Amino acid sequence: MAVETAVRPGPLGQAIIARDDETMSGSMVPRYPFVMERGLGAHVWDVDGNEYVDFAAGIAVNSTGHCHPKVVEAITQQAQKFLHIAGTDYYYEVQVRLAERLAGISGFEEGARVFLSNSGAEAVEGAIKLARWYTKRQNIIAFFGAFHGRTMGALSLTASKYVQKDGFYPLVPGVFHVPYNNPYRCAHGREEAACHAHCICADYSEETLFKRLVPPDSVAAIILEPIQGEGGYVVPDPAFVQQLRRICDQHGIMLISDEVQSGVGRSGSWWAINRLGVTPDIICSAKGIASGMPLGAIIAKKHIMTWPPGAHGTTFGGNPISCAAALATIDLIESEYMANAREQGAYIMDALEEMRGNHPTLKHARIQGMGLMVGAELVLDEQHTPAVAVRNAAEQYALANGLLILGCGQSAVRFCPPLMIERDTVQEGLIRFEQSLTQAEQDAGLL
Ligand SMILES: Cc1ncc(COP(=O)(O)O)c(C=O)c1O
Repeated sequence: MAVETAVRPGPLGQAIIARDDETMSGSMVPRYPFVMERGLGAHVWDVDGNEYVDFAAGIAVNSTGHCHPKVVEAITQQAQKFLHIAGTDYYYEVQVRLAERLAGISGFEEGARVFLSNSGAEAVEGAIKLARWYTKRQNIIAFFGAFHGRTMGALSLTASKYVQKDGFYPLVPGVFHVPYNNPYRCAHGREEAACHAHCICADYSEETLFKRLVPPDSVAAIILEPIQGEGGYVVPDPAFVQQLRRICDQHGIMLISDEVQSGVGRSGSWWAINRLGVTPDIICSAKGIASGMPLGAIIAKKHIMTWPPGAHGTTFGGNPISCAAALATIDLIESEYMANAREQGAYIMDALEEMRGNHPTLKHARIQGMGLMVGAELVLDEQHTPAVAVRNAAEQYALANGLLILGCGQSAVRFCPPLMIERDTVQEGLIRFEQSLTQAEQDAGLL
């Protein structure tokens, strides 16, 4: 079924984009000329009245969809009571309730303590401070391809695109990057099967780093995304992550799972790392936790988060409205949407597998995912040459065809819709995606 390809944005959208160009920081130029007017569930509308299926969810944030009535109700009720009081100086119950709820879903047998922040980067900053404080060690191991945020500490851990760091050195010292398990593009140039059978990256810290650069007892933490997000929606072999857990246990290193994008049900479990058979020591959460209200969380095993009063704090973190939104969000995810993420995610994976035959850039693509965190890395051939131009064009065609979809990595497309998305909306979105891919492949002379 063909979809009507429209000229978007319309005049109202164009006028706002022109004003944005004049005044907003040039570091944040949106990749997509979509100007939001309103949203409902997994649909959004632009200021010119055009409708879109939302496969992006504001970068995996609108977990319960746009304006879920129960989330809006929770926000409204809290807004009528108070907007802010500062958790560093005063108590409020909605924050305590959320901390209890997050401790309950942490998966930590011993229980958890929680620090609430405003964003993902802040959660990562706090987590590395906590790991340094608890271990009394300085060094941190992170992974190539990782994205942990833009503040100085989080940026130091990030190794996704150099433009994110260029001009900002020196960063936080004591960070060492090592290869991440990705058999599709083995960092050591090995065949996919060999890499799956035994990943050398998993041994890299012990075999190379600890022997040549840093003693293990100087390492405070290993931080990883259990599914690399910005880096391309790469799902590692469970054995790789289990090996990291063993290394951490052996050397007294904290394992930090950055679940900012993959957490709070998106993977089909509360935390993606649990689906890889591993329990971390510290979890960083944000994005989908409050359906779009700004909130981050550091969730740590109880015996680890024992830092003294004043060691870490925040003015806005744990904002009461964000906490109320998070509580409503977690209820909805627990009762319905985590299961839905598994179901619709599996459907999207199957649909993409079926499309392989009709699309040259999907034929040898890496199609991977967990729950509603699915990626398709478009490539031109068996050697996995990235189909960068096709991916970029497909994203722009998608917009014209009424679909919000995001790229990631060099040539991947990510499918991260709201977790409440219904099957018919998934199908409609996939039709629009396939048409966009066809148009991009035709332009490239591949069809
Ligand atoms: C895995 C991961 N960690 C951290 C961040 C930073 O979060 P924020 O943009 O809320 O600071 C992001 C954002 O994309 C992310 O995907």
